[in-house]
Amino acid sequence: MRVVVVSSEVAPFSKSGGLGDVCGAIPAALTRRGHQVVTVSPRYGSIDLQAHRITDTGARFGVHTGSGRHDVAILRADRDGVPHLFVEHPMFSGRRGLYGDERGTFKDNLLRFAVLSRVALEVPRRVPLIDGAPLGEQVVFHANDWHAALVPVLLEAVYRPLGIYAQAPSVLTVHNLAHQGVFPGNDFASLDLAPRWFTPTCLEWYGNLNLLKAGLLTAEELTTVSPTFAREIMTESGGFGLDAILRIRHDRMTGILNGIDPTEWNPATDPHLDRRYDVTDFVAGKAQNKRALQAELGLPRDDVPLVGSVGRLDPQKGVELIIESVPWLAEQGVQFVLLGSAAPAHARYEHALRELERRYPNNVRAWIGFSERVAHRIEAAADLFLMPSKFEPSGLNQLYSMRYGTVPVVRSTGGLADSVTPLDPQQDHGTGFRFEAFDGAAMRDALYRALWTWKHQKDRFLRAAERGMRKDVSWDTAVAGYEHVYQRASHRRGGL
Ligand code: ADP
Ligand code: GLC
Repeated sequence: MRVVVVSSEVAPFSKSGGLGDVCGAIPAALTRRGHQVVTVSPRYGSIDLQAHRITDTGARFGVHTGSGRHDVAILRADRDGVPHLFVEHPMFSGRRGLYGDERGTFKDNLLRFAVLSRVALEVPRRVPLIDGAPLGEQVVFHANDWHAALVPVLLEAVYRPLGIYAQAPSVLTVHNLAHQGVFPGNDFASLDLAPRWFTPTCLEWYGNLNLLKAGLLTAEELTTVSPTFAREIMTESGGFGLDAILRIRHDRMTGILNGIDPTEWNPATDPHLDRRYDVTDFVAGKAQNKRALQAELGLPRDDVPLVGSVGRLDPQKGVELIIESVPWLAEQGVQFVLLGSAAPAHARYEHALRELERRYPNNVRAWIGFSERVAHRIEAAADLFLMPSKFEPSGLNQLYSMRYGTVPVVRSTGGLADSVTPLDPQQDHGTGFRFEAFDGAAMRDALYRALWTWKHQKDRFLRAAERGMRKDVSWDTAVAGYEHVYQRASHRRGGL
């Protein structure tokens, strides 16, 4: 199959969270299985052309929106056999941030991502890829999150009426339902679409525009990144206002749990670690990495449990529960290391964590910022990994932690529930600790059980870590799921 993956993030070129990781990994895994996959994403100012060996394809064209014509150039870098295409336009390359800067989100994000979607739809027709020829119309468009959710809408509204892409289906993947691409209704004019697309069956949403909702109603097939999240979002409490829409489309929705990139996240080859290790020597390997991290962070090198946490400092991730529980962790004599950064709207989390670090210098380190290196070092050094998310479509960090022999403590939601099996007190079974209610007491109870097991039943604890390391978290299973969905989507348009 020929697949065009459209995303606002593709790692290692651009990444603010798991979306980038996933849209970098799926194309490589599909390519290994013999498919022809390209990605289309913006060339942000933060992407270093030289470091990534990004070259100019020479393709130039203009796309139209309500604000006029936008001329773009298409750049390209090849990685693991995947041509990654980049949309070069000053709206992207003139700014370092992906979605905003210190002053907040960019005011023209609707236009920026409308241009991304319009350009992606032109790629198979205009950009030479195979022996100088473009991909052609027999493609599957795989759009990700709201930034690319106009792809299915534009197919239906602009291309198919002209007889173009008659058999090319689109698949829309929801990575995060909390972000839907909602803009004032007046901005509809800037999309350059006929008024009939601004209705409740497409883009209109209580007088506003809602890009994700329009995509959910028009794509041939839908996926989200875990089976449990696929069920949760069809309920009123988990649907972010879109549960009724999702229920209408329930027969189109498939939940496919994310995998991880085994070359990027492998403790046996990880260049960021002081000592590399695998499942045969993880106890010694992790102990050395723990001492190294304690030394680097100026924490006492005591043999106390080290709890790690990495992630966006966002209400989604349960940061309140963590902040509320730090004094308790310190009381238990535990060390806690957190790496994270917040969008300007949630800067209070950064202040609170810095303050806790000042109050508990022997127990707490808050590393505020974004650092691949530190993320890898925490995964390797920690005994326990804490992820108390309020909701979690899939989550990658709990998968990384299991791969690194770090036992996860998670709230039982979405992809966390699908990937971490609870340690069974009677039998030797399970890979982590879970709790249900979204409150600090429930989280501390799970942490208490984990710490108790670490202290008093070390063998059992280490066997759980070992089972986590042996768990298959590769992309291969997930990608077979995507193949299936692409096929179903093609059938719906009379293709394949
Ligand atoms: P989400 O996509 O909701 O942020 P995921 O768990 O799917 O959550 O993925 C988060 C990804 O971003 C992981 O690869 C994680 O290591 C990375 N990440 C998040 N915050 C940071 C940070 N401050 N520094 C380095 N990596 C980070
Ligand atoms: C989102 C979700 C996260 C998921 C990631 C990649 O940002 O919050 O759970 O792992 O996308 O699919």
